[in-house]
Amino acid sequence: MDYSNGAKERIKLLEIIVKERSSRDSKAVKKLLSKKEQKLYHAALPYYELANANGHVWDKRHIDFSTSLTVKEYDSEFRDIIVPAVIFHDSGRYKTLDSRDNMKWDSFANRVWHMYEGMRIVEMHMRGKDYRNDSIDTVKSIVGLHDWNYLVKFDSDKEISALNNPSIMFGDETLTLEETYNAIERLSRTGLLEDDVFKVFNDVDRINVPASVSYYKDYYKKHHAKFGNVRDFALMRMVEFDLVTVFLESIENCASRKVLYTPHAKKIVGEILDERMKEADIKVLSVSSHFDKDEFRSSMEGIIDKENMYVRLS
Ligand SMILES: [Fe+2]
Ligand SMILES: [Fe+2]
Repeated sequence: MDYSNGAKERIKLLEIIVKERSSRDSKAVKKLLSKKEQKLYHAALPYYELANANGHVWDKRHIDFSTSLTVKEYDSEFRDIIVPAVIFHDSGRYKTLDSRDNMKWDSFANRVWHMYEGMRIVEMHMRGKDYRNDSIDTVKSIVGLHDWNYLVKFDSDKEISALNNPSIMFGDETLTLEETYNAIERLSRTGLLEDDVFKVFNDVDRINVPASVSYYKDYYKKHHAKFGNVRDFALMRMVEFDLVTVFLESIENCASRKVLYTPHAKKIVGEILDERMKEADIKVLSVSSHFDKDEFRSSMEGIIDKENMYVRLS
């Protein structure tokens, strides 16, 4: 990975800022939630803390941002499904240590395992409490399928045999990777992927990508070398979300487009990216200028604050 122009140092500092803000953000999120949602949020936190200790420092921020966005933008008939699904969807991540067999978090096996473990966590913390059984079943299925769009890019048979079909414990059950994948694959054939509730969930999940923390992390980590300046990067993000249709061919990576389903999600993502464009000239985003840690910290905190708990940017 190319970490030129102080990008590595900036990412490290961004990680520290995100960690430091974590408990403060939690308090603000809780205020938006009903009593029964607060219980779920509390139940999910320890799993994200475990993942955080294993290097997944960004997940908690994602859950906080996406949960507050859901409550503010999608307070609908789906609330009893979407809010719990957002709160729990990556809770199984703690189980998929990056160090295990040198597998990366976005490897086939880790995608499968964290979705399956997430379903177990939902069952443990929701069944018999304040939610209807059919809502809980849908929440479980959404969690079990939430990264399906990434899974289909793999050749499952190849991945399973390359790893020699390892087994892993889920509670009292020991399951092979193949068995776990088959359970997820069965879910994908139930029709849920075509359902409005799944599409809304998927949009809410993806809106995190242009949000400040995720955006800056990706900019420094992956693309600044290839795309040169932040305007090009923002344009690429727009392509990924299908917000612009011109110059498609000229932009690399358009194969990884994360097309949004609902017009409402497109509007929100468009507004956030507009805001990122306005920020493009400030020093925090300039990879070539002199890096001043204090300046970076205060710019970053200001940007996160502005966005914190999802304030509409327009
Ligand atoms: Fe996930
Ligand atoms: Fe997510």
